[in-house]
Amino acid sequence: MSGLLIIIGSGGHAAVVADALLAHGERVLGFTDADHSRHGLSICGLPVLGDDRVLDEHGPMLKLVNGIGGIGIPASNGLRGRVQRSLEAKGWRFVGVRHPSAVVSPFSRLGDTVQLLANSVIQAGASVGNGCIVNTAAVVEHDVVLEEFVHVSCRAVVCGNVQIGARSHIGAGAVVKQGLVLGSDTVVGAGSVVLKSFAAGATLIGVPARVMKERE
Ligand SMILES: CC(C)(COP(=O)(O)OP(=O)(O)OC[C@H]1O[C@@H](n2cnc3c(N)ncnc32)[C@H](O)[C@@H]1OP(=O)(O)O)[C@@H](O)C(=O)NCCC(=O)NCCS
Repeated sequence: MSGLLIIIGSGGHAAVVADALLAHGERVLGFTDADHSRHGLSICGLPVLGDDRVLDEHGPMLKLVNGIGGIGIPASNGLRGRVQRSLEAKGWRFVGVRHPSAVVSPFSRLGDTVQLLANSVIQAGASVGNGCIVNTAAVVEHDVVLEEFVHVSCRAVVCGNVQIGARSHIGAGAVVKQGLVLGSDTVVGAGSVVLKSFAAGATLIGVPARVMKERE
């Protein structure tokens, strides 16, 4: 057990995270949200308590869980990272999440604040950095390296020996072929199949995945 927990954020990802924590028997007090119109709502039977000032009502027994998700809009994983870093700088400690149905090789390495959601799989030799989300039914194969705050969305498959740079988003149902390297802040669109390596910052869509054209 991790002690008393509050989830930062109260959107869809926060609900999924709450569900995983409750399934694991953790003691969750509720959520915080900067949006005052959400205060008092109930999500998964837990209250939205207020903004981050409610944290100061608690002592060092309280730990935090990052409930900010991302849908592939460039920089959303950066936001998740910035919010976590700024609260850590104030002395708060974040903990990770592991749904009881996640399958995790004992020969993998996980950062302290990794989130493994229902039916996710982490295979032998994989290294998953702090703040990463491996979402519902996503697969991170052998010897993959995910740098910090990468989001592997629902049912995406990252094949063996792939390296993915910090804050990247691998869209729902996407596939990244074995051995490739994707630079930091890459966005792979939902359902896309990545068959070659790309430098940092690209948004990739389609089968095979190509760089998405900028809007005029
Ligand atoms: C790639 C993505 C970030 C682009 O979003 P966007 O910038 O808002 O792009 P738009 O929806 O305006 O689409 C722009 C063009 O790209 C195409 N496109 C967008 N996403 C695509 C995808 N995943 N695969 C193939 N084509 C795609 C659109 O059809 C459109 O084509 P058009 O100009 O010929 O009409 C987004 O579509 C996506 O796939 N996000 C990931 C969602 C996800 O993983 N959700 C899970 C959260 S747990």
